Amino acid sequence: MSISFDGKTKTFHLKNRFFSYVMKILPNGQIGQLYFGKTVEGGRVFDYLPEPAYRPMSSYVSEGEYSFSLEHVRQEYPSYGTGDFRHPAVGIRSADGSRISGFAYEGHRITAGKPELSGLPATWCEDEKEAETLAVTLRDPLTGVEAELLYTVFAELPVLARSVRITNEGPDSVYVEQAMSLCLDLPDANYDWIQFSGAWARERHVRTRRLQQGIQSVESTRGNSSHVHNPFVILKRPETTELSGEAYGFSLIYSGNFLAQAEVDTWDVTRFTMGINPFGFDWKLEQGEALQLPEAVMVYTESGLNAMSHAFHTLYRTRLARGYWQTKERPILINSWECMTFDITEERLVRLAKKAKRCGIELFVLDDGWFKGRDSDRRGLGDWHEVRECLPGGIDGLARKIEAEGLKFGLWIEPEMMNRDSDLFRAHEDWLLRAPGRSMTHCRNEFALDLGRQEVVDYLFDVLSGLIGGSHISYIKWDMNRSITEAYSAALPPERQGEVMHRYILGLYQLYGRLVQAFPEVLFESCASGGGRFDPGMLYYAPQAWLSDDSDAAERILMQYGTSYCYPLSSFGTHVSSVPNGQIYRYTPLHTRANVAFFGTYGYELDLEELTEEELDQIRMHTEFMKKYRRLFLTGTFYRLVSPFDGKNLAAWMVVSEDKKTAVAGWYKLLNEVNGPYHRLHMCGLDSSYSYCVKQTDRYSREMPYMPYSAEAADPETAPDTVLTGDELMKVGLPVSDCSAGEKRGALEPSCDFDSRLYVMHAV
Ligand code: GLA
Repeated sequence: MSISFDGKTKTFHLKNRFFSYVMKILPNGQIGQLYFGKTVEGGRVFDYLPEPAYRPMSSYVSEGEYSFSLEHVRQEYPSYGTGDFRHPAVGIRSADGSRISGFAYEGHRITAGKPELSGLPATWCEDEKEAETLAVTLRDPLTGVEAELLYTVFAELPVLARSVRITNEGPDSVYVEQAMSLCLDLPDANYDWIQFSGAWARERHVRTRRLQQGIQSVESTRGNSSHVHNPFVILKRPETTELSGEAYGFSLIYSGNFLAQAEVDTWDVTRFTMGINPFGFDWKLEQGEALQLPEAVMVYTESGLNAMSHAFHTLYRTRLARGYWQTKERPILINSWECMTFDITEERLVRLAKKAKRCGIELFVLDDGWFKGRDSDRRGLGDWHEVRECLPGGIDGLARKIEAEGLKFGLWIEPEMMNRDSDLFRAHEDWLLRAPGRSMTHCRNEFALDLGRQEVVDYLFDVLSGLIGGSHISYIKWDMNRSITEAYSAALPPERQGEVMHRYILGLYQLYGRLVQAFPEVLFESCASGGGRFDPGMLYYAPQAWLSDDSDAAERILMQYGTSYCYPLSSFGTHVSSVPNGQIYRYTPLHTRANVAFFGTYGYELDLEELTEEELDQIRMHTEFMKKYRRLFLTGTFYRLVSPFDGKNLAAWMVVSEDKKTAVAGWYKLLNEVNGPYHRLHMCGLDSSYSYCVKQTDRYSREMPYMPYSAEAADPETAPDTVLTGDELMKVGLPVSDCSAGEKRGALEPSCDFDSRLYVMHAV
């Protein structure tokens, strides 16, 4: 890893063994982008790359000069209005109403390590040797506004982290209308754009299209990163696969309104920008004030999409998530929501906990419905200090009873919102976000508190720390169940109303940060009606997040597959729930629900009292399996093998231990097939020289000898062990064909819709 500056050619070269990133100070002082790709030698001169030339009808920077045009030059932090007609990275409105600016080089610093970003979540390093940071200071000479661009290169990862801090060093106040965290001009447009989109209960489906001239983007305008689009985009070469080829991954560490955009201009240059959504954004900077923008993480790979994901997984698991739970195995939990919703009594909860203990479950989570008046989603939200009559011993009384059963106790909160019918609303209607004279839009009967106000954050901190500190609470599920509307703050003057959405997120981060710091050993899990805020910003505070309100196994395969492109399994909140599924009314086998949920933090969300003894036995053995392998699921290297988005009725993925001695592959069939095609599963990430004993799990997660479905009448008791080399498993593949189609033959289970198998491989 090194960052160098060649004073003669005014060129910066940031590199490690994975990539080179080259920039140059242009003749007008602006910074030009020259190269981002495979590592190239240091000490080279890259002056041939900007290609200044006369092109008819172009706008040129200086009179009498016909080759240097901002339309044609690739830039690091471009603005609009001086000859570059693409969407800019930065837009400033100055005191005289002008929107023209131009940011030119002032100076730079290269330092070991990585600085913190004030008020915002960001990746970090434990040791200064892990990373190096370049800070380039740019200045708009007329307004005096400065932009400090930070670039951090990690030594052992193909990661370049970027952020920007805008400071008004001029005499007059200015308005920042647009300020992206990253801008990257790539010299061609031969890319597929992959976005992760969906809706509530259908989050992060993979959507791919070829880049075209014009603008393509994903964004949020909802105040949260949202169910609809994730702040993560990939640009890959059309020929790039999971295992080979070039790709860039772009991820924004932010939980509010974002924009990720690619603009392909008429010369096939691609400008990728990412940051806070400029839509509705306007931030006043008085003299001396600064605005810190969120961090954007770029990953470059020449080895395919799995390799790109590994970089994000390692970075986000080990250098974004923090604290006590970062590396710890997470407890297997049972959550009361899908079992009881609001219909709780202390007795029923304790009965469920007792059964859960017998099944090997370790943590009992009381979801919504526990506080005063909360017998439906119409009442009580905001009143965190009193419990419902159905919990006579209060939260601590219940927590102690649950602990007496041998489980830890966890609790649901939704601090950011309130119902109209709540004491908090009656006392502090003035704390709401609402537009004067207009009615309030509700979502799930909720109204949003103005977290941009310090007194609101302080109040919430006091009441929640009293709650958590006052009872035996080991886990908190932090929910958020509405988009933000009427984003107007009574606490801000008219000219600062464009700041409300971002100030909300800053308040949220402050509150989350203070609570996590006050209760370092409490495991926090984020949630926003399922996956509405599944973003890296939240991962900085809580190491795991509820992936979606749809816990149906077949739907989860799609969502977990999509989510895995950026986020590590250690962040996936995955539960086994009841059938028919509460969202989609689908029946899936219990073992498939477990086989999907194992690839995550794992838990349950169903009424154990409704299950048969056989099903309870199954669950007991599933939790045993999870306990045996959860370190592997938490820290192993995850590979996508077969995409459920390819329309082949199949999906597969696997996780391999760091020493490559243990691996578990999940193979999932959606609809059953009669007399179906042959299939081989090509494993990844194994050591080709090792021999692996291959086992497959049955409905009880028992590890049985591997038996191809076609092995008629094979008896698991007597079947010999199958030992295959890593080379064979990866190159030849493991036959996983299924010709049984519902017919029971020998000891083999008949297959069914949504059947699945795990293949467990141990080096021998
Ligand atoms: C949201 C969450 C659910 C549950 C309910 C409770 O929808 O995503 O898991 O906590 O709220 O109201």
